[in-house]
Amino acid sequence: MGSQLKILGTTVSTQEEAKALAEEGAPEGTLVIAEEQTGGKGRMGRKWFSPYGKGIWMSLVLRPEQPLHYTPQLTLLTGVAVCRAVRKVTGVMAGLKWPNDLLVDGRKICGILLESAAEDEHVRYCIAGIGISANLDPGDYPEELTGIGTSLKIEAGEPIDRMSLIATVMEEFEMLYELYRKDGFQPVASLWEALSVTLGKRVSIQTARGPIEGMADGLDASGALRVRTDSGEQIPVFSGDVELRR
Ligand code: BTN
Repeated sequence: MGSQLKILGTTVSTQEEAKALAEEGAPEGTLVIAEEQTGGKGRMGRKWFSPYGKGIWMSLVLRPEQPLHYTPQLTLLTGVAVCRAVRKVTGVMAGLKWPNDLLVDGRKICGILLESAAEDEHVRYCIAGIGISANLDPGDYPEELTGIGTSLKIEAGEPIDRMSLIATVMEEFEMLYELYRKDGFQPVASLWEALSVTLGKRVSIQTARGPIEGMADGLDASGALRVRTDSGEQIPVFSGDVELRR
């Protein structure tokens, strides 16, 4: 992982850079890092605030062998890798919110965007995009993000060594990816559950099929969130925006 590395100053989005490299045949583990993104992308068509030199904005090329419907598991795996690395390098006790956010006291410090290029069920490549708000100061946030986002620097009370955090994220990713390839999703799912701030909470989720409310009970074998509604029905949620109620 990271054996092929492209480091950029300002770019539109490391996702687009990594996709172009993947289309040219870049091997699994190719990593693109930028100091700044002018068109950083979040989930569901949102923008991702990526100011110069303040964060870790990077995208990793993956070439998984499993069919397309397994790729959401890689989002969860990436979250576990980042969460473990953040705790190790900074001591900030971040937790995972399903499917892809890292939170500290309810505020977001990292988002993950997994995009796949596939023909039917055959995955040509995936791009795991990781955005970590490492060294943002309170005054850096635009108004709409005030109170929603925080940074590792704010939480740790000191600047973060971005290079050592990137190296540790890659080490953790490599270890988990090996485990995943050898033993499947279950061990990764258990690690995810142990780092989760979603499970055992009441959640309300906006899904494409309408809102769902209930208790977040765990992950199913595919990585979907198991939600128990008040009528006792267990619903697997495959995608959506989760709001933690209490
Ligand atoms: C989200 O929480 O909505 C996902 C955010 C993902 C942001 C990262 S930053 C590096 C990579 N390049 C992008 O344009 N997006 C991802």
